[in-house]
Amino acid sequence: MVDSDIKTDGILYSVLIIGCNRGLGLELVRFLLIGLKKPPQYLFATCRDLDTCSALKAYNVFWNSRKTKVKILQLEVNNDDDIANVVSAVEQDLDGVGLSVLINNAETHTRKDLDTVSWVDMKKTFETNTISPIMIARAFRSILSSFVLLDSNKVVSKSYAAIVNISSVLGSISNNKEGGMYPYRTSKTALNMATKCLSADLKDNGIIVISLHPRNIPNKLEGPLPYSFTASHIIKFISTLDMTHTGGFYTYNGTLIQF
Ligand SMILES: NC(=O)c1ccc[n+]([C@@H]2O[C@H](COP(=O)([O-])OP(=O)(O)OC[C@H]3O[C@@H](n4cnc5c(N)ncnc54)[C@H](OP(=O)(O)O)[C@@H]3O)[C@@H](O)[C@H]2O)c1
Repeated sequence: MVDSDIKTDGILYSVLIIGCNRGLGLELVRFLLIGLKKPPQYLFATCRDLDTCSALKAYNVFWNSRKTKVKILQLEVNNDDDIANVVSAVEQDLDGVGLSVLINNAETHTRKDLDTVSWVDMKKTFETNTISPIMIARAFRSILSSFVLLDSNKVVSKSYAAIVNISSVLGSISNNKEGGMYPYRTSKTALNMATKCLSADLKDNGIIVISLHPRNIPNKLEGPLPYSFTASHIIKFISTLDMTHTGGFYTYNGTLIQF
């Protein structure tokens, strides 16, 4: 069903999603292209291997049938050269318009407990889940801030831009009653701290930064909501973002979560 309430002339004008090969990233692409009355003007989707992202490539048909410019870009998030290449490709296509939303979605997930966790697991997970989102945010800072128009008093006069770090409630310190999952939990907790730091550092650029848990808060009786459902709520929530949200940690539908 098409959601005609979500407008794409503001904060959803030009969107970049990292890690769209499968899962949530792919669902967000799908919803932005076929779930909205008017898709974003620009949609950039990354995957680390262009030869294996056939589901993503299938959306290319929309390049011609709708006015959205869709581009699929190769990005291994732990590689500086790849990040630089994506920055230049996006900058070139946007031609000065600026990027309105960056969604840091890529993850690695190892379920190691206290007895099994290793240095390798911790380092690998932190690289992808915590360090890369920081490096990517820094690399896109200037393109994001060029979407935001500041008037002579440095007040935002057009729309904000946003960085959405896809986190997890498993990274919430206050929610953790069970322990375990050291690499994943600690990398997402650290990502939440990165969100907080970025929100302070980028506030004057008009860039909102949030952490977002993309599913319902786990309840042993019901399983997690499917991404086909939560993707639409995530996009709807992003369309409502303003500076009052910056630095916060939210579920897919905008409910605040304790850090
Ligand atoms: N699944 C859940 O229940 C759940 C719950 C809470 C939060 N989350 C968060 O939601 C986000 C999406 O989760 P998901 O379930 O869609 O995950 P997923 O199915 O495991 O997909 C992860 C995506 O990240 C990409 N990726 C992993 N490492 C990468 C790297 N080094 N460079 C570039 N891309 C990389 C993967 O690409 P490849 O296909 O090439 O591996 C894939 O496209 C994650 O941040 C996750 O932590 C998930």
